[in-house]
Amino acid sequence: MKNIISTHQFKKNEVKKILARAGAMEENVKKGKVKQILKDKIIACVFFEPSTRTRFSFETAALKLGAKIISAENAMENTSAHKGETIEDTTKILCSYADLVIIRHPKSFSLEAAAKVATVPLINAGDGTNQHPTQGFLDLYTIKKEHKRLMNLNIGFGGDLLNSRTLKSLVPLLRLYTGNKFYFISPKELRLPREFIKELKENEVQFEELKSLEEALPNLDVLYMTRVQKERFANITDYNKVKDLFILKKKHLKNMKKDAIIMHPLPKINEIEKEVDEDPRATYFHQAQNGVYVRMALLCYALGL
Ligand code: CP
Repeated sequence: MKNIISTHQFKKNEVKKILARAGAMEENVKKGKVKQILKDKIIACVFFEPSTRTRFSFETAALKLGAKIISAENAMENTSAHKGETIEDTTKILCSYADLVIIRHPKSFSLEAAAKVATVPLINAGDGTNQHPTQGFLDLYTIKKEHKRLMNLNIGFGGDLLNSRTLKSLVPLLRLYTGNKFYFISPKELRLPREFIKELKENEVQFEELKSLEEALPNLDVLYMTRVQKERFANITDYNKVKDLFILKKKHLKNMKKDAIIMHPLPKINEIEKEVDEDPRATYFHQAQNGVYVRMALLCYALGL
């Protein structure tokens, strides 16, 4: 039984196997030849925070592999968490019904608490501002697919880096490959937590922190934009102050490399001008599609199949 709680838990050889499996899943889906290897499995999908991509791509992945699904959306209201049940007790119960449990929760590290009591594989579908490991894997898969390599890349992250759990899951995976350099581009209010930066320095990771998107763009092989996460702000005034500071516009694209890719975990709100969607370098909709193949591979990995 393998839980997927954080990308920090993975070694490079495991990551390579998961990416290869996701590639095989993509090929099988496209040929219409997916084996029903989860046909005897029940998967619980319990989301205490809203989701479009993660929940529906997990459910699609599970259904393609033949599994059955029990699920709760808006679980803060629609499960007994509303009556005060703890995440640990909820997890114990879900584990007694399903063969694998997927949980998204607004509280950082809540999945680590849940993992302590889980008796079937548990997958973190996003916990607060901490981790979103399956997103990290689908982002890595997308970079590999587009650039045909995972090393010697300049990767820029722009926007709300403070609250981005997707960044915090993708960076540890990219650090497994040599020659990558990170550019963290954000206003001061939304820069990465200092403990994250300290850990990068201690491990001699190549990175720069920048305040302007324009100065980073010409260097980048990957631009990973993020949404300013309104739901993480204590008040609307603070959110309004920063929400439109970083917008990728069509006029910026001429300063980017011809083979650069523009990624975003989505949903995007105002941080990417609509016209950018038409540029061949905009990869975010393919990125979301890749989530199905990667999550098919991760379901099998967690179940040891
Ligand atoms: N990228 C992502 O986690 O999207 P959802 O919030 O729609 O699941």
